[in-house]
Amino acid sequence: MEKWLNSTFSRQTYVSLPAEADTMTAHNKERTKAMPVTKKHNYSLRKHNTFGLDIKANQYVSYDSVDELVEVLAEITTSSQPMLHIGSGSNLLFTQDFAGTILHSGIQSIKTIAHHGDEVLVRAGAGIVWDDFCALMAQLNWYGTENLSHIPGEVGAAAVQNIGAYGVEVGSIVHEVETIEVSTGRPRVFQATECHYDYRDSIFKHRHGEYIVTAVVFRLSTTPRVHLDYGALQQLRNNDPVPSTQTIRDAVIAIRESKLPSPDRLGSAGSFFKNPVISIEAYAGLLRTYPGMPHYPVDERQVKVPAAWLIEQCGLKGRCHGGAAVYERQPLILVNKNHATPSDIVALAEQVKESVYQKFNIQLQPEVNYI
Ligand code: EPU
Repeated sequence: MEKWLNSTFSRQTYVSLPAEADTMTAHNKERTKAMPVTKKHNYSLRKHNTFGLDIKANQYVSYDSVDELVEVLAEITTSSQPMLHIGSGSNLLFTQDFAGTILHSGIQSIKTIAHHGDEVLVRAGAGIVWDDFCALMAQLNWYGTENLSHIPGEVGAAAVQNIGAYGVEVGSIVHEVETIEVSTGRPRVFQATECHYDYRDSIFKHRHGEYIVTAVVFRLSTTPRVHLDYGALQQLRNNDPVPSTQTIRDAVIAIRESKLPSPDRLGSAGSFFKNPVISIEAYAGLLRTYPGMPHYPVDERQVKVPAAWLIEQCGLKGRCHGGAAVYERQPLILVNKNHATPSDIVALAEQVKESVYQKFNIQLQPEVNYI
């Protein structure tokens, strides 16, 4: 089963799903060889950051294969200008123009590389739109990605950020991550355990700029492995104890659409802050003053508290600064309401942090990366 899935994918993606599909690599190389590396100068990144900020990069380079990436790296690492690799810019806050090269992956192939019992290993190129990948897995009814449906971004960035939603983090389905080491241009594969996945964290965030993800191998299941503990998903069990991936995906998309702004209509980078993890003692102290304060257990010593709740208690829902605003329906999200500048968003984020700190003595940490 090899086919173009243009109806499912927002970009032209070569999909190859049989386990023996070795011909795929050669085939895909042939296709991508014909497509030159795209280089643009003094280029607006408005379409490459989901806040929709109109900032510029000296140079923007998009490549379509690992070979092209290695060639591009050999060129640009000799320059003293900074380099930044981005996905779809759904977790970035550009605070000013970028005086260097922005790199973007167009590596698009998908293939199954092994199928044992009910486990299937699927290798996906870093440049594939994450939700296109989720949509395809839902069509195949392979379990693993459905709770992570509709998260903006691309496959490579998903594995770097350890994206998570509705009780699942992507790290739990990553088998291995294929990278290129920037300083040498050599490939290095990280097994899942070497990625050190944690809440919105991975080794790639700590060794920022050292490796570029070129593909991710996911471990999926052809039999149901469902995660329906998140409040609004629990009711799915009432209709069917083992819902299909498509049923779960549809429910997740409905929840997201009811709470989260669509990046096409209102610029944002999803959750702006992480949910803070505090000690059980600190939580017990706060609970005396704020008896309704929600929490989720982390381990015997710590709990996580929802930052959205903290921000709402500070009365900040809808608060504006210049063109930036705290989103009314989910105050963990800062939005570009009206031609916000980077400094509007930075200033609003500072106000939110300061208010939460003054009221609760909790330091919020941004989830978005400031550039
Ligand atoms: N809450 C409020 N007021 C609100 C909204 C929420 O008080 O207006 C409180 C409630 O107590 C609610 C709690 O916040 O139960 C949690 O809200 P929600 O379920 O919407 O999730 P979240 O903790 O705010 C996290 C992720 C989201 C992910 C959802 C669902 C982080 C930083 N964010 O948000 O991820 O979609 O859980 O799993 O962990 C993202 O990373 O960009 C993102 C959207």
